[in-house]
Amino acid sequence: MDGRNFYITTPIYYVNDIPHIGHAYTTIACDVMSRYKRMKGYDVHFLTGTDEHGQKIQTAAEAKGMTPQELVDKIHVNFKELWKVLDIGNDDFIRTTEPRHVRVVQAMFKKLMDQGDIYKGTYEGQYCVPCETYVPESSAGEGNTCPDCGRPLTLMQEESYFFRASKYVPQLIAHYEKHLNGVMPRVRYNEIMSFLRGEVRDQSVSRTTLKWGIPIPGDEKHVIYVWFDALINYATASGYLDDPAMFRKYWPSVRHVVGKDIIRFHCVVWPLMLLALGLEPPVSVVAHGWWTVDGEKMSKSKGNVVDPFKMVELYGADAFRYFLLREVPFGHDGDFSEAALVGRINSDLANDLGNLLNRTLQMIVSYRDGVVPAAGLDDPLDRELRALAETTLGRVDEAMERFAFDDALKAIWALIGRANKYIDETMPWKLAKEGPSERLDSVLSSLYEALRLSALLVAPYMPGTSRRIWDQLGLEGTPLERVYDDFAWGEGSGAVVRKAEVLFPRIDLEAWKKVRAGELPKAGKAEAASPGEMEHEPEIGIEAFRAVEMRVAQIVKVEEIPKSRKLYKLEVDLGYEKRTVCSGIKAFFKPEELEGRRVVLVTNLKPAKLCGIESNGMILAASVKVDGNSEALTLVVPAGEIPLGSRVS
Ligand code: MSP
Repeated sequence: MDGRNFYITTPIYYVNDIPHIGHAYTTIACDVMSRYKRMKGYDVHFLTGTDEHGQKIQTAAEAKGMTPQELVDKIHVNFKELWKVLDIGNDDFIRTTEPRHVRVVQAMFKKLMDQGDIYKGTYEGQYCVPCETYVPESSAGEGNTCPDCGRPLTLMQEESYFFRASKYVPQLIAHYEKHLNGVMPRVRYNEIMSFLRGEVRDQSVSRTTLKWGIPIPGDEKHVIYVWFDALINYATASGYLDDPAMFRKYWPSVRHVVGKDIIRFHCVVWPLMLLALGLEPPVSVVAHGWWTVDGEKMSKSKGNVVDPFKMVELYGADAFRYFLLREVPFGHDGDFSEAALVGRINSDLANDLGNLLNRTLQMIVSYRDGVVPAAGLDDPLDRELRALAETTLGRVDEAMERFAFDDALKAIWALIGRANKYIDETMPWKLAKEGPSERLDSVLSSLYEALRLSALLVAPYMPGTSRRIWDQLGLEGTPLERVYDDFAWGEGSGAVVRKAEVLFPRIDLEAWKKVRAGELPKAGKAEAASPGEMEHEPEIGIEAFRAVEMRVAQIVKVEEIPKSRKLYKLEVDLGYEKRTVCSGIKAFFKPEELEGRRVVLVTNLKPAKLCGIESNGMILAASVKVDGNSEALTLVVPAGEIPLGSRVS
C-alpha cells in the first residue's frame, strides 16, 4: 500500500427526498478531510453520489406519478447542486443507475455465486418497507414496529439468494483485532466487535417483490437487494472493473465516512463481501452522530427539517461548514439551532478571526504603508506566539488523524485568540507613537505570520474565506495549493497587504431573533425617559452583549456640518486607527469642550451616511429629559488612564 494515497467516501444518498442537514454534514466532513489531506501532499480521491434503486425509490416515484428513472434523474440533481453551493470538491459523483456500476454489481454477484458464496434459499421475516430491511424479531419495537423508524413491520416470505456472510466472520474478527481503527470511534468498534462475536446470519441479497433494481444475470425474476448494490459503489468508482491500475492505487487506502445508523452495513456486511471477493476491508469506517433540531428529531411532519440551501443563503457556505464541524465532536450526537450558528458567527468568525485580520492589516497599512516588515527586535512574547503557531500544526495533524474536526478547530482558534491577545499586550499603537522601531516591525511581522498560518489552517474548513484572507494578505495563488508542512515562519515579509475587508459581518442577534420570529425589527431606538416612564429593552444573553464592540477613543478634531443642526463631524483616534464619526451632540457641546476628550466608541456598527458623510461608529452618551421637555446629555468617559483602543466590556 502506498501511504500517500487517500480514498474517502460519503454514503450514497437516497434520492427519494431532498437533501437535508444530515447529508450536508457527512459530505462537508469528507470535503474538509480531503482538502486537508491534499494540503498534506496526499493523492486524494473523494467520492460521493446517489443510491437510486430499491423499494423506497419505487414507492416515491409511484406517489409522484413518475417512473423511478424519471424520479432519480430529477432528484439527484438537487444533491449535485447542493455540493456546488457548499463548495464541495468531490472528484467523482456516482449514480447507482449508471451502466459502469450495474456491470460491477453483476460481475461481483456472479463471482460470488460461481465460488459458492451466494446460494438460493427461502427467506421469511419481518420487513420494514421504508427502511428496506428485515428486522430480527429480537429487535422489533413495541407492536411489531421497526426499531429505526417506528413504522409497522410486514411478514414477508420470498425466494431469495443469500450471501454466505457467516463463513467470513472469523476472518473479519481477526482483521479488526489487528486494526483497531478499522471502525472509529472506539465505542462503535466495540459495538461492531460484540455484534460479530454473536450470531451473524447469511444475508439475503435479492428480492422478487420489486422491479426497480439491478437484475440477477440468468435469473431475472430477482433484482439485487439495494444494499448489496449500493455498497459496491465504492469499488465501482475506484476502477474495480474499468481501471485496475486506479483500483490498485486507491482501494487499500479507503475510508468510509457514514452516520452511526448505517455502520452494520459498512462494518459488517461490506467487509465480509470484500473478504469473500479476496479484497482488503476498508482502512477505516468512521461513524458520526445524529443531528436533532432544537432538541427534537428532524422530521417532515414536524416541519423542522433544516434546509442546507437556506442556511447557505442566509449565512454563507463557510459559516455553515464551520459551525457543523465545530459545534459537535464528530461521532457524538448534536443539536442544531440557528441561534447557536449565529452566536458562533458573531464570536468565532466575526470577532476572533475577522478582528485579527482587520486590526493587523489596518496597522500594517497605517504604520508600514502596507508592506509587511521583516522581524526586527524580538522578545519573549513573539517567541511564545511563534512556538504556539508551530505546535498548532502538530495539534491539528493529531486531531485530523482521529477525525476530531472540533479539536482541530479548537487548536486553530487557540492560536487566533492568542494573536488577538498579543495585540493588546504589545500595543502596537503605542510603539508607533514612539517612532519607527524595530520592535514594531517584529510585532507586525509576528501578527502577519500568525494570520498567514491561520489562513492555511482554516482552508480545508472554509475554502472561500481562506482565499479572501490570502488575498488581503497580498499572497499569490490560493492557500489550498500550499503543502502546509512547508510553512516557514517569517517567509511572508515583503508582501504588500490589501485593504482590510470585513470577512463576516456581525449579525445583530436581537434584530435577527425578531425577524426569525416573524416580527419586524423595531424602528429607531428607545426614547430617553424620566425614571417613572422608563422603557426597557428585552433581556439579552451575554453573547448579544459581547457582540457589541466598544473601545476607548480620543476625539482629536471637531468640525461643523453646516447643513446639520444636530451633528458634528468628529475625528476619533483608536490608537490603531483614526475614524470619522458623525455624532448628534452639537446642541450640547462646543467644539473645544470635546477636542482631546476620551470617550467610549461603538466600533463595529455598520457604517452609515449622515448628511453625505460616512460615519464609522457611535459615541456613547447618557441623556435625560429635564423639565419634561428639554434634554441634557453627558458623555460616557473612562474614569482612569487607559490606552486608546482598550476594549470596554
Ligand atoms: N443510501 C443509504 C446509504 C448507502 S451507502 C452505501 C442511506 N442514505 S440516506 O440518504 O438515508 O442517508 C445517508 C447519510 O445521511 C447517512 O450517513 C445518515 O447517517 C446521514 N443522515 C441522515 N439523517 C441524519 C441526521 N439527522 N443527522 C446526521 N446524519 C444523518 O442511508
